[in-house]
Amino acid sequence: MNACYRCRILGQEKSGVRIRRGHLRDGEPLARLKYELDLHHRKMSIWPPECDMNEARKTVKEMLKDRRNAVFVAECLTKEIIGIVNARLVKRETVHSEYGKVGEIGIIYVKDAYRRRGIGKRLVAACIDHFQRLGVRHVTLRSVVDNRASDRFWETLSFTPALYVRSSTVQKVQRRLGAAARG
Ligand SMILES: CC(C)(COP(=O)(O)OP(=O)(O)OC[C@H]1O[C@@H](n2cnc3c(N)ncnc32)[C@H](O)[C@@H]1OP(=O)(O)O)[C@@H](O)C(=O)NCCC(=O)NCCS
Repeated sequence: MNACYRCRILGQEKSGVRIRRGHLRDGEPLARLKYELDLHHRKMSIWPPECDMNEARKTVKEMLKDRRNAVFVAECLTKEIIGIVNARLVKRETVHSEYGKVGEIGIIYVKDAYRRRGIGKRLVAACIDHFQRLGVRHVTLRSVVDNRASDRFWETLSFTPALYVRSSTVQKVQRRLGAAARG
């Protein structure tokens, strides 16, 4: 899909986009973005996402209602919502005081036609400002290993891999265990 007509005419792709808090009334366009994100992840090496608009509506509604979350959206001059990010405050029982409160960046998605214009960075900046106000020091997120664009994006912003989530099937593991026992 192309960048919206008015933004293109005004040549304000960058400055014409504002980042603001997301509200329950944004539910439908945000569910659409969540659905598109699911489609984007469908062919990657993770268990397949639902790719169902009703599930997306439910997920987004719960996300917006949960007070631990701050949802930020990118909106163009025409009021079209073209990006979303979720910043989540996680409280933890730990002797390491600086890890008692950590930030999690949840879903992030920018519509295809608007990528590489700094909107993803501005969404992350909104999360980081939010976490800083809450006194959070450490920020974490999950990303899929074969999502090259997101790798580059997060590396640019100083996020380095810290944990593998490994995946197999019962059958494959049994085969390997059998081979190991035989060999
Ligand atoms: C990842 C995503 C949110 C980035 O949004 P964006 O608005 O395009 O990001 P920005 O324009 O702020 O990019 C900032 C920097 O990240 C890097 N980057 C972003 N996308 C990149 C890509 N496709 N290839 C290489 N580097 C990339 C670049 O260094 C870029 O700076 P530059 O354009 O000046 O070179 C967007 O590509 C997206 O929505 N992807 C699909 C959903 C997804 O994968 N989400 C992440 C799940 S963890």
